[in-house]
Amino acid sequence: MPKLPLLFATTPFPTLFFLLILSIFQVISQNLDDERSILLDVKQQLGNPPSLQSWNSSSLPCDWPEITCTDNTVTAISLHNKTIREKIPATICDLKNLIVLDLSNNYIVGEFPDILNCSKLEYLLLLQNSFVGPIPADIDRLSHLRYLDLTANNFSGDIPAAIGRLRELFYLFLVQNEFNGTWPTEIGNLANLEHLAMAYNDKFRPSALPKEFGALKKLKYLWMTQANLIGEIPKSFNHLSSLEHLDLSLNKLEGTIPGGFGKLQNLTGLNLFWNQLSGEIPVNISLIPTLETFKVFSNQLSGVLPPAFGLHSELKRFEVSENKLSGELPQHLCARGVLLGVVASNNNLSGEVPKSLGNCRSLLTIQLSNNRFSGEIPSGIWTSPDMIWVMLAGNSFSGTLPSKLARNLSRVEISNNKFSGPIPAEISSWMNIAVLNASNNMLSGKIPMELTSLRNISVLLLDGNQFSGELPSEIISWKSLNNLNLSRNKLSGPIPKALGSLPNLNYLDLSENQFSGQIPPELGHLTLNILDLSFNQLSGMVPIEFQYGGYEHSFLNDPKLCVNVGTLKLPRCDAKVVDSDKLSTKYLVMILIFVVSGFLAIVLFTLLMIRDDNRKNHSRDHTPWKVTQFQTLDFNEQYILTNLTENNLIGRGGSGEVYRIANNRSGELLAVKKICNNRRLDHKFQKQFIAEVEILGTIRHSNIVKLLCCISNESSSLLVYEYMEKQSLDRWLHGKKQRTTSMTSSVHNFVLDWPTRLQIAIGAAKGLCHMHENCSAPIIHRDVKSSNILLDAEFNAKIADFGLAKMLVKQGEADTMSGVAGSYGYIAPEYAYTTKVNEKIDVYSFGVVLLELVTGREPNSRDEHMCLVEWAWDQFKEEKTIEEVMDEEIKEQCERAQVTTLFSLGLMCTTRSPSTRPTMKEVLEILRQCSPQEGHGRKKKDHEAAPLLQNGTYPATYKHSEKESDNEDDDNFI
Ligand SMILES: *[C@@H]1O[C@H](CO)[C@@H](O)[C@H](O)[C@H]1NC(C)=O
Ligand SMILES: *[C@@H]1O[C@H](CO)[C@@H](O)[C@H](O)[C@H]1NC(C)=O
Ligand SMILES: *[C@@H]1O[C@H](CO)[C@@H](O)[C@H](O)[C@H]1NC(C)=O
Repeated sequence: MPKLPLLFATTPFPTLFFLLILSIFQVISQNLDDERSILLDVKQQLGNPPSLQSWNSSSLPCDWPEITCTDNTVTAISLHNKTIREKIPATICDLKNLIVLDLSNNYIVGEFPDILNCSKLEYLLLLQNSFVGPIPADIDRLSHLRYLDLTANNFSGDIPAAIGRLRELFYLFLVQNEFNGTWPTEIGNLANLEHLAMAYNDKFRPSALPKEFGALKKLKYLWMTQANLIGEIPKSFNHLSSLEHLDLSLNKLEGTIPGGFGKLQNLTGLNLFWNQLSGEIPVNISLIPTLETFKVFSNQLSGVLPPAFGLHSELKRFEVSENKLSGELPQHLCARGVLLGVVASNNNLSGEVPKSLGNCRSLLTIQLSNNRFSGEIPSGIWTSPDMIWVMLAGNSFSGTLPSKLARNLSRVEISNNKFSGPIPAEISSWMNIAVLNASNNMLSGKIPMELTSLRNISVLLLDGNQFSGELPSEIISWKSLNNLNLSRNKLSGPIPKALGSLPNLNYLDLSENQFSGQIPPELGHLTLNILDLSFNQLSGMVPIEFQYGGYEHSFLNDPKLCVNVGTLKLPRCDAKVVDSDKLSTKYLVMILIFVVSGFLAIVLFTLLMIRDDNRKNHSRDHTPWKVTQFQTLDFNEQYILTNLTENNLIGRGGSGEVYRIANNRSGELLAVKKICNNRRLDHKFQKQFIAEVEILGTIRHSNIVKLLCCISNESSSLLVYEYMEKQSLDRWLHGKKQRTTSMTSSVHNFVLDWPTRLQIAIGAAKGLCHMHENCSAPIIHRDVKSSNILLDAEFNAKIADFGLAKMLVKQGEADTMSGVAGSYGYIAPEYAYTTKVNEKIDVYSFGVVLLELVTGREPNSRDEHMCLVEWAWDQFKEEKTIEEVMDEEIKEQCERAQVTTLFSLGLMCTTRSPSTRPTMKEVLEILRQCSPQEGHGRKKKDHEAAPLLQNGTYPATYKHSEKESDNEDDDNFI
């Protein structure tokens, strides 16, 4: 015991010090304890997300990965991408020293979070959530705020003037929201602002750029793409002396480019494309020492290009296409050796391509189509190591095809020029060429065998040249070839039968040559959208596959061709033609066998029919009903059969009648589809039918109508489904117009609103996608249409009638019709000439449904001259706006971007060539990204879908990570 006092006595000072430390430590840990309980409470209010598992009471907050402490107090919280869905509780501001709050990339909904009491907050990141409503008018309570990013949310209304009072702001990103008011000119007061971005807010009230912005002396970065800007660029912008990147693309700006931009000595990127700017390009812009990106395409600029471009700066991107520019290309664009692309198509430019571009080893693309250029292409262009696209069509270029091509060069477009000479044998070294369009030149010589070795080529257009001789009889590797056009040459000899084994050939045009001999029957194996063999000297029988509809124009002026069936206006292949072709006896024997066996078949068939009819007459009323059930049923077939009464009849369609029957035990409603056959089903068919029904009966998917059982006998089949309260989609879309045919008792005066339409599109796509992708073999519906999309009480879409009804109806139809399934207005074009179809026919029909949802039009209205698909494509080609095509009834309440996406998707799905249509999986993915519920309103995704769309006027990817938006927003670069 004596030891302790001794210790105190001998070492008083260290002990006191120790106690002092201890008490400070206690204060600190008390503070951290408090902060921990605040955070644990926050965690609980966020619904204890699993992503915050390290937040617990046995460790200190400073040790949690999402928390940063400074001087032992919590100063930063980063909840980036933590799958948070709940509102942020206001108690988060009890953390008195909080400086950074990052809630980005979550699923938070509701209004701007209640955090204005976080008085020390400097960094607030709310980007990539689903916030709605306005920015608070008193946001300036966050008086220390320096960094505010609200990108990719659904904020609406005006941007409040209070933003202009956040004097400390250096970073303000308000990209991609639903703002439908405007922004305050007070933003011009933010003397510290360095980054300002309000791009992709196309609902802003159309406004001119305020001259006040010219006062932003520290502004380095101004990004206002697609922000509904009108009027002129203010002259005051000449004073934005720190500006490094200016992007005002995709607006409606008019007037000229201020000459004073040349004073912006730090400008690296100038993006003014897709506006209505006119006048000349000021010369002093070409003198800016920092300029790397110059994109002014799609305006109305005129005059000559300043010749100094490229001399004074490290110019990388030079894109001036779609203007009215004249004169020559600047000679020194690649003087610093870093030029990536020259894009100057569709102007009035002339002269030769500068020799210096032939030595520019950094080039990825050169695009000069549709100008008045002439002379030869500097040979180095073809072999520039990174070159990908060379597009020179529509000029007066001369010279020959290069024997060597850059390794990655995939697209060469030189049509409508004066190229001459042969295709070099070395063309087999053009390894990655995918598109070669050399139509309408003066190329000559034979088509070399080596050309057929291009493994990646998908489009090969050599029409309108002077090629002669025979085609190579063997094809080494045209595995990817989709489109082959050799028309208007002097080719002769036979058509090689090897063409018939190209797996992807869709378009084949050999017209206006001197091909002779028979059309190889192998060509009939192809799934061709376009076949043109007209104006040749072919003879003999047209392959049987082409003798039906769809090929009326394929064989014009081939007088020696003949047919034996079908609708083509060609002579019959009678003996005379056969004789004149000096066919061998072998052939005659074959014909004889055909004729005899045909005759036997007819006799046999007639006999069977007679027997059938006898049997039918005897047994019609007695055939027993067979029940195939897929669920435990609490009704029996007798109950169903006795309830098929006129009272319960709710619809009558092409394939039969539909009844609604209440199950007397459970009270739930059943839909019974009765399909009658005039002719008895043959045994084999019935088996096949049952087999298919069994597959379908086992499918469980929330977007496919549940088939409860199938009751069939020889003369009719009853399919018993769950009843869909809201019936079919077509009634909602076209119900009013079709009143006369609708037998439903409920009259729909209700308008199907846009969010519901989107939801229906997604549901139906999920159902189809499931059938195409998730079954052991893809199951093709074959008759997708709005009347086969049923809606439950909550308007969830369910696909009905997978293949069944059609199979049955088909059986009853005349033979000539048997190839055609589907409903008029929804039938994919390939159906017209081939029975070899794949699931892309469903994609086509689904595309028609999308167009119906957007436009409210009927797929095949009697008062219109064209079907909906033709109409929609016409609107697209005429560059109509979405306003002009969309259904009046949804105009009030829909998001234009979503409508545009659905319309474009409808177009993509209805392209003629099956291979260019997306798969249902891709369709579903695009739809999901477009929907606030499915994609959680994540705008970023919304834009990711855009580049798929064909028309260049849709905005491309918005990549947030790429803040220095060297944006790829145009279609000139890949
Ligand atoms: C977000 O987190 C998930 C897992 O929690 C991860 O798979 C995903 O890649 C993350 N996304 C981003 C953009 O960081
Ligand atoms: C802007 O959008 C909000 C939310 O959609 C809406 O409530 C408001 O009426 C709109 N304001 C204007 C001026 O259109
Ligand atoms: C231009 O950039 C340089 C280098 O980054 C910098 O030192 C200079 O201050 C900038 N000029 C202006 C006017 O901001």
